[in-house]
Amino acid sequence: KSYKVAVVVGSLRKASVNRKAAEAVARLAPDNLAFEFVEIGDLPLYDEDVEAAGAPAPWTRFREQISAADAVLFVTPEYNRSVPGALKNAIDVGSRPYGQSAFAKKPTAVMSVSPGGIGGFGANHHLRQSLVFLDMPVLQQPEAYIGGGWELFDDAGEFKSDDTRKFFKSFADAFASWIERTAA
Ligand code: FNR
Repeated sequence: KSYKVAVVVGSLRKASVNRKAAEAVARLAPDNLAFEFVEIGDLPLYDEDVEAAGAPAPWTRFREQISAADAVLFVTPEYNRSVPGALKNAIDVGSRPYGQSAFAKKPTAVMSVSPGGIGGFGANHHLRQSLVFLDMPVLQQPEAYIGGGWELFDDAGEFKSDDTRKFFKSFADAFASWIERTAA
């Protein structure tokens, strides 16, 4: 069976290592997963008054893209030991209106990439806290706290280390199995 995976990258910058890492997971994953990158940079800040007046087009577009997917992959940097505000906003937008969360029950996985040695652990686990409430089954192993992020890829976007490539492959394979086991 094939599955659609929405990819949400927590960084907005063009040269993001998290985006490169997400692209690598998509490249290495089994063929029965089709990945769609869902952009978050244009989402107005979540505001219940704005919702009541009528959802802005980018909110509706984001909600529809997440709803159309069977699973969601989050790849995020750590900002001040948590997730970037843009990513938290996207989660808030997708989770509403109340009772109509686009995320509910979709299998998910979290990877965090940082130039530092802790590999975005703080962001990774803050994000997991929200995913529990969103009722998303989260892949537990392998954990993916990727340190030394600025050294991962060469200028062509290829892995510099074969061990790292193998780790990414094992993560992608585990996520594919997880989706097969837990998708609705
Ligand atoms: C950072 N960075 C950072 N890194 C980290 O490991 N822990 C942290 O708490 C923070 N905090 C932080 C806050 C803000 C506001 C910025 C802009 C950056 C550094 C961050 O990991 C680095 O810029 C990454 O390269 C960002 O990921 P992308 O954009 O390359 O995907």
